[in-house]
Amino acid sequence: MSAPNNSFDPVEVTPLHPDEVARMREEALAAIAAAQDLAELKEVRLAHAGDRSPLALANREIGALPPAAKAEAGKRVGGARRDVGQAVKERQAALEAERDERVLVEERVDVTLPWDRTPRGARHPLTTVAERMADVFVGMGFEIAEGPEVEAEWFNFDALNFQPDHPARTMQDTFFVEGPDGGDSGVVMRTHTSPVQVRALLSRELPVYVVAPGKTFRTDELDATHSPVFHQLEGLVVDKGITMAHLRGAIDAFVGSMFGEGLRTRFRASYFPFTEPSAEVDMECFVCRGASVGDPDNPCRTCSSEGWIEIGGCGVVNPRVLVAAGVDPEVYSGWAFGLGIERTLMFAHGVRDMHDMVEGDIRFTSAFGSEN
Ligand code: DAH
Repeated sequence: MSAPNNSFDPVEVTPLHPDEVARMREEALAAIAAAQDLAELKEVRLAHAGDRSPLALANREIGALPPAAKAEAGKRVGGARRDVGQAVKERQAALEAERDERVLVEERVDVTLPWDRTPRGARHPLTTVAERMADVFVGMGFEIAEGPEVEAEWFNFDALNFQPDHPARTMQDTFFVEGPDGGDSGVVMRTHTSPVQVRALLSRELPVYVVAPGKTFRTDELDATHSPVFHQLEGLVVDKGITMAHLRGAIDAFVGSMFGEGLRTRFRASYFPFTEPSAEVDMECFVCRGASVGDPDNPCRTCSSEGWIEIGGCGVVNPRVLVAAGVDPEVYSGWAFGLGIERTLMFAHGVRDMHDMVEGDIRFTSAFGSEN
């Protein structure tokens, strides 16, 4: 605050002196013009047009002047403050326009850029084929069952009537899981989906109608027709009065639905510890329907001119398996089957080499991309 205004002359009050007011005005206008962006301008506005700016403080001095002096001083300071206010407004508008223009350039989105340079993935055909296979049985009233991939030896072998010296147990076929002390753990990577039969019987109410698609493991080298990791679809029916005729009917319905109506099937006698009697299931070649057999001029790549394609194993559930799963074989009977999913994919889609199914090249999977 300045000294008392004894003479009541505004010119005597330093902040109200015309030169001083003009200086404050010029200083303010110069600072406003120099503000490079809106943030700077805000600071300049507070310093030169705010409540504590020199011109605002000068304005407060006017109140102490005699009425005759007030008008002139008021006019002088008011004019300067109006000019400063106007200059802030104009600079504000100019800087806002500049900013808007810059944002339009900096934040521009080029809508002509290609959006599809990362190709969309596709579900693996093994997944889609496994789902289609299971769906055929779901359509017949079956439920989906599951079991663990790391399985107790008891489920994988013992309950399925594999004797302790059965060759399938040896290191040749089975991945054994090492125990914590490096010894026997009693646990294996399941070598087939058949242990799900026992799990389903132990965990469900009878009758049981289930299919179990899943991963299986054997110590095979990867080559054109083998893989250490592969997939099977297990089927199991246990009910009263079930015979092999029902099994044949279900297999026929499956083959008709997956590969085409009217294809014949045949059972060849075989052996599995968990079924008695057991059979290998063949279906008529859906490409040549047997026409290539004995005709060297028209070879068939799908069935190697044999006329038949092997799709899996099956049989009547061995009563020992029913007993192991707590089912009375005097009251209930059943059948089971195991189908190879890789084989089904190979035949259904003409995939020639197992490598294509496991290598994860998306050019392979995307060829099946439209399947869901
Ligand atoms: N588990 C057998 C295998 O992996 C396939 C099989 C055969 C499953 C006969 C069955 C069956 O359910 O009844 O070779």
